[in-house]
Amino acid sequence: MWFMCNHSSFLSVTTLYSHQPDGKMVTFLAAYVLLNFAPLLVLSVPPIWTQPEQVHLSYAGIPGSMVVTWTTFNKTDSMVEYGLQGGRLFEMSAKGDATIFVDSGEEKRKMFIHRVTLTGLKPAATYVYHCGSDEGWSDIFSFTALNSSFSFSPRFALYGDLGNENPQSLARLQKETQLGMYDVILHIGDFAYDMHEDNARIGDEFMRQIQSIAAYVPYMTCPGNHEATYNFSNYRNRFSMPGQTESLWYSWNLGSAHIISFSTEVYFYLEYGMDLIFKQYNWLKDDLEEANKPENRAKRPWIITMGHRPMYCSDDDQDDCTKYDSWVRVGRTDIKPPAPGLEDLFYQYGVDLELWAHEHTYERLWPVYGDKVYNGSKEQPYVNPKAPVHIITGSAGCRERTDRFNPNPKEWSAFRSTDYGYSRMQVVNATHIYLEQVSDDQYGKVIDSTWVVKEKHGFSSWLTSF
Ligand SMILES: [Fe+2]
Repeated sequence: MWFMCNHSSFLSVTTLYSHQPDGKMVTFLAAYVLLNFAPLLVLSVPPIWTQPEQVHLSYAGIPGSMVVTWTTFNKTDSMVEYGLQGGRLFEMSAKGDATIFVDSGEEKRKMFIHRVTLTGLKPAATYVYHCGSDEGWSDIFSFTALNSSFSFSPRFALYGDLGNENPQSLARLQKETQLGMYDVILHIGDFAYDMHEDNARIGDEFMRQIQSIAAYVPYMTCPGNHEATYNFSNYRNRFSMPGQTESLWYSWNLGSAHIISFSTEVYFYLEYGMDLIFKQYNWLKDDLEEANKPENRAKRPWIITMGHRPMYCSDDDQDDCTKYDSWVRVGRTDIKPPAPGLEDLFYQYGVDLELWAHEHTYERLWPVYGDKVYNGSKEQPYVNPKAPVHIITGSAGCRERTDRFNPNPKEWSAFRSTDYGYSRMQVVNATHIYLEQVSDDQYGKVIDSTWVVKEKHGFSSWLTSF
């Protein structure tokens, strides 16, 4: 009855073998060994993970393009099969590449990030797609190719500071995206809290959570402080923004807007290279110079920036924006050479609207420059404003909850809310932008709304009387 016992040592098996060496028993013993060691054999061989997951879209910046990005844990081909909605399913296909991302955590987890750029898409046409390879395909998703017309009026949802614990606004954003309410999502830094945690499994989980938004509309990003670990490696590897900076700073055009995304974090993480402040500053200057060429500004009169940490805010947490001489605003004079801030640069090139997050609150500012308010007029502050308009929208929901406000805000603070929520923006045309704030705490109620109206753009508009 020895075979009924729970033997697991190789010694006991070999002992039994030596006592009964006939051929039948050898076969039996071999089976016995296999059965006993099967769990060990299974554990030592990792499963094959070729199933695509974490599917998300981004706009490559070229009219008629869309990038599809996803993850597998084993190497596979990178294919997207797609077709016009209502047409033959998957009648077109495109191939891309995968890069290996090895997380820097203890386990050195490895994953393959696949990127396929679709080109030649018909503006405003809806496509159905799946991604993967012959070793596994994703679910079927759809997207509408961005309209490349200058008269297109794109609708955005925008927010920062969305985690995968307490992501309060996520369900509402998922549903509204799938209802077709947005053309683009802007996530203004701070993802997952934090993507590198649990050997980057938190990053995987977050990317799965946003798939029901990001697989349907381009999900455009900028880095925040929560991405800083291992030199922003999770952020740089997981997203696919235009340009060659691993999504750290880039610009793109949509409708009558030129949109610039940049990293405020270069001012705070000098250990990753002080030169990045200057590299980014010079890139911003060149980009703004180009966007301000008369022929370009005539077509894309709105210049909108998005960066994580605001220049101004009235929260009570001692963050950079609570200080008069915030680093993002005025630069750093405590380093050599001193690094310039961004307020003067943006003012000189007539940036119209600056979108921020980081503070877990919503705050709308009156047009402001140099800590002073420059309203268009007393009656209509946002009609032909004389300085950029700032919006801070970092209350989408994360494990750090919401922040508190300073009870005595400065005169530039126009509206504040500590409700969880997110913002909506429509770049209606060359003269009108509409902005509103949704409170998730109040079941989707719009708690603030503003029209920014500009008959003229560029630096000279700050000085023009209408
Ligand atoms: Fe932040």
